[in-house]
Amino acid sequence: MIDFLPEQLRLAPSILSADFARLGEEVRAIEHAGADLVHFDVMDNHYVPNLTMGPMVCEAIRPHVQLPIDVHLMVEPVDALIPLFAKAGANIITFHPEASRHVDRTLSMIRDLGCKAGLVLNPATPVAWLEHVMDKVDVVLLMGVNPGFGGQKFIPATLDKLRQVRARIASHRAQGGQPIWLEVDGGVKIDNIQAIVRAGADTCVAGSAIFGAPDADGGYRNVVAELRHQATAR
Ligand code: DX5
Ligand code: ZN
Repeated sequence: MIDFLPEQLRLAPSILSADFARLGEEVRAIEHAGADLVHFDVMDNHYVPNLTMGPMVCEAIRPHVQLPIDVHLMVEPVDALIPLFAKAGANIITFHPEASRHVDRTLSMIRDLGCKAGLVLNPATPVAWLEHVMDKVDVVLLMGVNPGFGGQKFIPATLDKLRQVRARIASHRAQGGQPIWLEVDGGVKIDNIQAIVRAGADTCVAGSAIFGAPDADGGYRNVVAELRHQATAR
């Protein structure tokens, strides 16, 4: 099997690990550091055992950056929040299929509101969820940890799953299908991002690895550059 090398690697710092008292500064700092997306983790204390941010916080950070905002919904039910996040400036909205009664409808709703739509698969969620909706998906997000908390250890079985989904995307493209990003979230660090990208990821979320390693001036240029370097080194 030939290692995957993305045409474009996207880095998506998760602001779950940012300083919540200074979110505006923190998102500006990751934009300056060369990040590609702002990853925005929404937890509801129901689908996952933690509680984070809603659409009002998304709206508050929107004017601080040009970067696309990548909203990861860890909520159940899903649908009612989608128009609120679209209005709050989200560009990408992903959700966990087990948390929606009608996955196809939820995907269409996201796209109809002008956002890119994605499915998130937990470590134990089968890839088969993609089967009948490939044409409605812009992003597949594979969890490298069980959702709910930052700073957990990457589950190695995710690498095989990345290879499987990368192969599915390749055959979908070969049959004339639309581009689909393959994103990975949870446990991505400087010492494993190379293996993760080689297995098929083109978009990597990193929370604690980035916000836990500030430069002397409080920015994140060094860690973002190092992650990009490791990810694409051959
Ligand atoms: C986990 C969240 C992740 C998390 C990643 O439920 O979806 O986005 O912030 O954090 P790290 O990179 O620290 O594992
Ligand atoms: Zn996330």
